[in-house]
Amino acid sequence: MKVTVVGAGNVGATCADAVARWELANEVVLLDIKEGFAEGKALDIWQTAPINLFDSRVTGSTNDYTKTAGSDVVVITSGLPRKPGMSRDDLIATNAAIVKSVTESVVKHSPDAIMIIVSNPLDVMTYCAYITSKLPSQKVFGMAGILDTARYRAFLATELNVSPKDIQAVLMGGHGDTMVPLPRYTTVGGIPVTELISKEKLDAIVDRTKKGGGEIVNLLGTSAWYAPGTAAAQMVESIVRDQKRVFPCCVWLQGEYGLKDIYMGAPVILGRNGVERIIELKLNAEEMELVKASGKAVKEVMDVLDKMNSNVTA
Ligand code: NAI
Ligand code: 2OP
Repeated sequence: MKVTVVGAGNVGATCADAVARWELANEVVLLDIKEGFAEGKALDIWQTAPINLFDSRVTGSTNDYTKTAGSDVVVITSGLPRKPGMSRDDLIATNAAIVKSVTESVVKHSPDAIMIIVSNPLDVMTYCAYITSKLPSQKVFGMAGILDTARYRAFLATELNVSPKDIQAVLMGGHGDTMVPLPRYTTVGGIPVTELISKEKLDAIVDRTKKGGGEIVNLLGTSAWYAPGTAAAQMVESIVRDQKRVFPCCVWLQGEYGLKDIYMGAPVILGRNGVERIIELKLNAEEMELVKASGKAVKEVMDVLDKMNSNVTA
């Protein structure tokens, strides 16, 4: 098994480290445009092998895609992260150019790869990779929901003083302030969360989750990487080990939830073929309204990308 991570920055290096440490592939390639950067990060990760006891070979490459040839899974993290005061959407023009060129090179050398997009604005960058790659949508999807539910679950674990392992949750929508955590689908050791916490406290946690990325940007001056990089690695794991785990992922909706031709977060089964099924929850009217509003917000940014592309081709 061969896994490539494009972008050897904070998120990419964290992802490659987890992929190697969990032995998800015998070859892990880290690629970056910055001279020597990926080689340096890869060497550092490889030197943890005798300590962390893994065999995955980790190598780096400065923009040489021949080294990535024949990858089974490619994770794209290349792009600028958010700075304080920036929304994810502010990144669109710069990151769309990066994601487009990276996708072209990835597909040229690994035409059968499954692609996981991480670059922001996430839903639209996943759309950008999809239209550029011309791969089936089952093989091109984005990482956001695992991160956003992880934040939600971590906040709940702190509040309830329980193990985060026992908190299961579903979250839908775009990776932005309109995301839709779903308390009705949140359980603690099988117990509906609503039986364990007051509405006020739960509402506050839902709100904090929606702003979870910004909270870290304000603290660090750049966006998060430990949870995002590990979340992307967990998607790689479900694919290469064909685990068929149920995760919220950014996927191409074709009528599910009444939404069409849009990349957005929904629960899916992830296995060796990529997105093996999109699960349709029986949302109530209030939940559906929130999901539709999130879809509208995502679609507006997708339209910005479409307009940029039509100006280029006009
Ligand atoms: P970073 O700045 O640490 O790393 C980005 C890397 O991409 C840099 O090393 C840069 O040299 C590289 N790069 C830029 N253009 C490239 C190209 N054409 N080819 C190859 N490499 C290229 O940023 P960080 O923190 O790792 O974030 C990466 C991206 O992931 C950002 O867009 C960020 O907003 C996004 N992100 C998404 C999350 C999600 O939930 N989907 C969560 C956290 C970050
Ligand atoms: C995050 O949620 C900024 O998308 C990035 O941490």
